[in-house]
Amino acid sequence: MCVHLHTLMTLCLTFTQGGCMYSSNHWGELNDSQLQPTIQKLMKGYNRYLRPNFNGDPVEIGMSLDIASIDAISEINMDYTATIFLRQRWRDSRLVFPGNESVSVDGRLVSLLWIPDTFIPDSKRSFLHDVTVENRLIRIFSNGTVLYALRITATIACNMDLTKYPMDRQVCTLQLESWGYNLQDVVFYWTRGNDSVKGLDILRLAQYSVESYYTSVSRAVYETGQYPKLVLHFALRRNVLFFILETYVPSILLVVLSWVSFWISQSSVPARTCIGVTTVLTMTTLMMGARTSLPNANCFIKAIDVYLGICFTFIFGALVEYACAHFYTMQHQTVEDLHRELLRELNESNGNGSMPFISSRQSNHPVEIGSTAEEITEQSANSDTRNNAGSKEKASRQGCGLSSVKNASRRAAAVFTVENPHNIDRHSRTAFPAAFLFVNILYWCYYLFL
Ligand SMILES: *[C@@H]1O[C@H](CO)[C@@H](O)[C@H](O)[C@H]1NC(C)=O
Ligand SMILES: *[C@@H]1O[C@H](CO)[C@@H](O)[C@H](O)[C@H]1NC(C)=O
Ligand SMILES: *[C@@H]1O[C@H](CO)[C@@H](O)[C@H](O)[C@H]1NC(C)=O
Ligand SMILES: *[C@@H]1O[C@H](CO)[C@@H](O)[C@H](O)[C@H]1NC(C)=O
Repeated sequence: MCVHLHTLMTLCLTFTQGGCMYSSNHWGELNDSQLQPTIQKLMKGYNRYLRPNFNGDPVEIGMSLDIASIDAISEINMDYTATIFLRQRWRDSRLVFPGNESVSVDGRLVSLLWIPDTFIPDSKRSFLHDVTVENRLIRIFSNGTVLYALRITATIACNMDLTKYPMDRQVCTLQLESWGYNLQDVVFYWTRGNDSVKGLDILRLAQYSVESYYTSVSRAVYETGQYPKLVLHFALRRNVLFFILETYVPSILLVVLSWVSFWISQSSVPARTCIGVTTVLTMTTLMMGARTSLPNANCFIKAIDVYLGICFTFIFGALVEYACAHFYTMQHQTVEDLHRELLRELNESNGNGSMPFISSRQSNHPVEIGSTAEEITEQSANSDTRNNAGSKEKASRQGCGLSSVKNASRRAAAVFTVENPHNIDRHSRTAFPAAFLFVNILYWCYYLFL
């Protein structure tokens, strides 16, 4: 203790020669002979503006980090905020003193020593904590090694690739560079290689887990020269469970809900329309909610957007399915009504309704409805043309051209014509779930394993 006190006083007095009110007032009664002579001698002429081994070999600065916390990882700003303990150690031969003790010096005396000008190139904002005093520590070992520790909170940029969000894995870095001293003056190294960084393993993050990390040594090349640089790489894996519960499960359930409509009778228009429209609207809300916490940049499509898009398509498809089914049912009914009317008219005119024209209608061919409708319109059209005052020749020529066009359109219509509109629902009951399952398998395979 006594040794510590003396050394400290020595350092204080030496650093503050000439004009240190503190030392002159409180330590004034101590004269030079009571100070440790060796240190006093060594500290005399210490110039804090000159690095150790000035004009000699570069100073080797070892660094190690403790990550105290990573508070916020922001996808909107593409950065993260971390509180770190940064420890730097280097050897300053001017500070060697006899013995094997070390002295911890008041942080305020840092301004009297040479310290490296390390900075974080990617930081957007950073500050040194100063409650209750500036959070820095200086320890000087008897062999001249200086340990300088700081507690910093910094917001550091991290470029994120969000195309696989939320199944994404982000690699962020923490870089340390020397501001002014180039590689001829200062060399950086990690004190214990990959083990120089502590605290990342036990870190608890809201949305991520730290998958792996490693350290590397490199150099930064600028126009002004080459500068030492240390990089900590760490990979963050997003916890997808939150998104599964928050977005994926609700959207899957919505898609399933939209299928309920296939089991409801086609005649209950309000029920089926209601299910269709409600699911579409809910899906829209879900899509809005899913993108609030993300940058609005549309230059990339995120995995979650793709999934919500798929779900939306299926839900919309179910609504359109009902529209189609309903339309064909109505068409079917109209055709049947026309049949009945035609039959009645024929019965009235002929007395007996056993005409081959009608009996052929009663067989069930897929083309039946379309062809019937077409023929009826054709008949009416032909009768119209015949009734018209135009020449018969012209009419027949026109009829020939028209009939070929009509044949083609009839064939085309036959493709889209449905034998029994209720089959649309029956097929949808299997087709929609099967298609959804298939798309899901593709989706999850692509985003989880590719
Ligand atoms: C320093 O103090 C010692 C006694 O503590 C005294 O003998 C000596 O003369 C003092 N020297 C100076 C330069 O004042
Ligand atoms: C420090 O030095 C003293 C003698 O100067 C010695 O007795 C002691 O063992 C040394 N301590 C260490 C940790 O080397
Ligand atoms: C100086 O002493 C410290 C503490 O005893 C030790 O960790 C360090 O390796 C020493 N440095 C050199 C260059 O001997
Ligand atoms: C640190 O880890 C990385 C990646 O695992 C490895 O490539 C590198 O060799 C390791 N470095 C040391 C010094 O162990």
